[in-house]
Amino acid sequence: MHTTSIPSEQLKIVIVGHVDHGKSTFVGRLFNDTGSLPEGKLEQLQKVAERRGVPFEWANLMDALQSERDQNITIDTSQIWFHTQKRQYVIIDAPGHKEFLKNMITGAANAEAALLLIDANEGVQENSRRHGYLLNLLGIRQIAVLVNKMDLENYSEERFQSIEKEYRIWLKSIGVEPKLFIPIAAKHGDNIASRSANMPWYKGATVLETLDEFKVTDLPLNQPLRFPIQDIYRFDDRRILAGRVEAGSIKVGDRLVFAPTNKSSTVKTIERWSAPSSESAWAGESIGITLTEQIFVERGAVAALETAPPYELTRFKARLFWLGKQPLRMGRPYKLKLATQEAECFVESIETIIDASTLNTVDRPGPDRHVARHEVGELTIRSKRPIAFDAHNEIVVTGRFVIVDGFEVSGGGIVVADNYPRRAADSADLGKNLYSSEGKISAQQRADRNGHQGRVIWLTGLSGSGKSTLARELERELFIQGKHAYVLDGDNIRQGLCKDLGFSHADRSENIRRVGEVSRLMADAGLICITAFVSPYRSDRELVRNLMKPGEFLEVHVDAPLKVCELRDPKGLYAKARANEIPDFTGISAPYEPPLHAEVVVRTDQLSVQESISKILEYLHMQDDDAPIFI
Ligand code: ADX
Repeated sequence: MHTTSIPSEQLKIVIVGHVDHGKSTFVGRLFNDTGSLPEGKLEQLQKVAERRGVPFEWANLMDALQSERDQNITIDTSQIWFHTQKRQYVIIDAPGHKEFLKNMITGAANAEAALLLIDANEGVQENSRRHGYLLNLLGIRQIAVLVNKMDLENYSEERFQSIEKEYRIWLKSIGVEPKLFIPIAAKHGDNIASRSANMPWYKGATVLETLDEFKVTDLPLNQPLRFPIQDIYRFDDRRILAGRVEAGSIKVGDRLVFAPTNKSSTVKTIERWSAPSSESAWAGESIGITLTEQIFVERGAVAALETAPPYELTRFKARLFWLGKQPLRMGRPYKLKLATQEAECFVESIETIIDASTLNTVDRPGPDRHVARHEVGELTIRSKRPIAFDAHNEIVVTGRFVIVDGFEVSGGGIVVADNYPRRAADSADLGKNLYSSEGKISAQQRADRNGHQGRVIWLTGLSGSGKSTLARELERELFIQGKHAYVLDGDNIRQGLCKDLGFSHADRSENIRRVGEVSRLMADAGLICITAFVSPYRSDRELVRNLMKPGEFLEVHVDAPLKVCELRDPKGLYAKARANEIPDFTGISAPYEPPLHAEVVVRTDQLSVQESISKILEYLHMQDDDAPIFI
């Protein structure tokens, strides 16, 4: 091994390419040119080749290293790595789709960047297109495309450009923006560590320069905690729950909920195998924890903070890349693996089928509807028991999964965001023996009598932002205009309908769900219901919105900077929260997720109460012109 000091920063990369596109040669060359080969290895193999009278191949070098690794001889067995002056690179070996998918849930596929090889001679193949699709599906955004074997194409700029053009169009169509395209000849080292004299027309960076420009992704430290349990160990009478913190952080004293069983306990200690116990741990660390109250937890459970649990459901929407020899069919039993969970599942419906190498939708209706090998299905999966998961765009590790058919990993996919209820108990299953009764009076008849349609005006914002004040003024204004308006206010409702609820994430969601249902009933009765709730979670508000008919729900962001709300502090609660007397206080120790698409935003630090009210009324009247709400 070389003894020069090796930088400590690491980047995980994956090198993907069609089988014959020269991957081993490229990797061999990369190792050689970065001085990462074991001392004397190259010379030894060159001699062997000479003795046998065959030309030396770079690919042989990698094969030799691979077999030594398999026999556990010279180098580290778990990783293949090389380094530049800047950092170490770990190549996540992914010779094919299949290995890559398998690695998906073990975490080994957490590559931060990818090099995609294309053979200059063969050009863009079906597989090249699929690889691009797969990388994108897995969320790998840092990609460089290497057009290899340029020596066989006389180092032709024209050839390079036509491949670049074709592949760029494809990548763009799937939303991928590669960092750059590099013409290389892996066999001779052109443009790998040094600029090629054979391609003076190429002015861009070399492969190594490009690698060094990629960024090391930040660990998901600021996300909600996700700690999937791998094993439970017993020492004396202690039970240690072991696993890897996949997102967020955990500390002694944290109140945890274990999804999907929904049992809670508190972290007593945090243990490490080779270090003393400590107060906290972060994403990326493998740890064990003990709990203050013993509860029954099994492998597969996902520990989260009570304030931000994952979904716990038996049904979710997914985008799935299928590799099975047998097509994926609805209703057949498969095994779902997500984080450390395993559960029997089946596909409930296949919404769309896409050919991953063309992106064309496959028209395959009727009883033979299935997803074939190398196709992507947008579908709904149902599991036999509740699964803890997240949407992939929110938390990656608990937002992706693989499907096992028999004993084979046959597909991998991601959970698509949707308006999921938090828990299975909240979903429609419980109501399967319930039927709606229809009234004899139409919404129009009510509107005719009242002089306006039923509506929900949903005010959301920090405590002290002015929701209640605006709600009351708006109610008065509408009343004077002869409209039927009524306010539901957080502080009041929490003393009655919701007096059993506190301020944990789950309790707030339930609070908003109930208020949402009540407001819907009121709108249905023809009233203008004005609500004043902090309603800090976007997904909760979206669930309410989706209860209503289009246009019936009006989200108003009552917006004032935290500083201003804190200065106003009408109830003295901010002062208490700062003094740690109120836990989970919105804006201080609990999040507020501002609306992204509120119908109306009123900056109460800039507008007077009357101006804010006018802005809301104006919106209502404007909507009136399209579809009369006030008649
Ligand atoms: S919500 O988050 O579930 O929508 P809601 O609007 O019902 O909250 O109640 C918020 C009101 O409860 C605040 O106006 C404040 O008076 C009071 N309150 C008490 N504790 C908290 C807390 N931890 N966070 C926010 N508001 C709190």
